[in-house]
Amino acid sequence: MAKKIGKTVCVYSAKGGVGKTTTILNLAGTYHKLGKKVLILDLDLTGGAIAVALNKAPQMTLYNMILDIENNNYNSISNYVTKYNENIDFLASPIDPRQAGKIDSTYIELILDRAILSYDVVLIDTNHIINELNLVLIQRVDNILFVTTNDPYDLKNLKSILSIFKDTGITNYKILLNQSVIPFKNYFSLYDIKNIIKNNIDYTLSSSFFIPDIDNYVLNGQIIILNNKCQKVFPEDYTSFVRMATDFLEDKKEEENNHEE
Ligand SMILES: Nc1ncnc2c1ncn2[C@@H]1O[C@H](COP(=O)(O)OP(=O)(O)OP(=O)(O)O)[C@@H](O)[C@H]1O
Ligand SMILES: [Mg+2]
Repeated sequence: MAKKIGKTVCVYSAKGGVGKTTTILNLAGTYHKLGKKVLILDLDLTGGAIAVALNKAPQMTLYNMILDIENNNYNSISNYVTKYNENIDFLASPIDPRQAGKIDSTYIELILDRAILSYDVVLIDTNHIINELNLVLIQRVDNILFVTTNDPYDLKNLKSILSIFKDTGITNYKILLNQSVIPFKNYFSLYDIKNIIKNNIDYTLSSSFFIPDIDNYVLNGQIIILNNKCQKVFPEDYTSFVRMATDFLEDKKEEENNHEE
């Protein structure tokens, strides 16, 4: 039986707190609804929030996986992931933040090469720091989802990072304008934003997707988009998630066709 060769997607941003982790969780929920097997890889190594957001206490983390790969004790990724539901697993960031230093960019390839054999999609959460680990990750993944808010600092830094992407030939990114995380920040129109960043906006989450009781979801380990009412109450934002999820899979089909040759 042919092994899965899943698609890899990372979120990135010019500053913190723009909704990367929340977006990753909702994308995972969307893939679950589409019947796809998804791994959330928490590469926000010191501030990892996926285990908290899913209200799970992982027994094993990325740190254990790396130690075992190094010591030739690695057998299967299933030994390190934590199950959320029948389609969603996550690979937690280290429980002790001091272990994070052990995980450097040299492991990115080793981790992703193994993960794509078992999942349709590997969604990677990051922090916004420009460091070696994130740079290697950005160059390795199939798709980068750049999350930005309607905030002058955020947009200015996004413009700088996009010009670095252009200089280094990185073109496999999409931009998500997230109006839901700070809904009252709406100074710039879409037209202004495109002009500021000299780029298109691929997807938008509207200010109506601001969830006042989001911490309730977190404390109960619930993914917003898996709430039955979500599609009805936020039809546009729901559609944005489905568009993102299917766009990231579409490339995969082309790649799978290439693999089959
Ligand atoms: N749609 C939303 N409605 C209400 N609150 C939200 C929404 N999306 C995100 N938040 C809140 O905004 C904060 C930042 O979101 P999140 O943690 O997803 O951002 P992040 O980019 O991953 O942050 P960091 O850079 O710290 O990892 C969190 O407290 C989160 O609960
Ligand atoms: Mg985060």
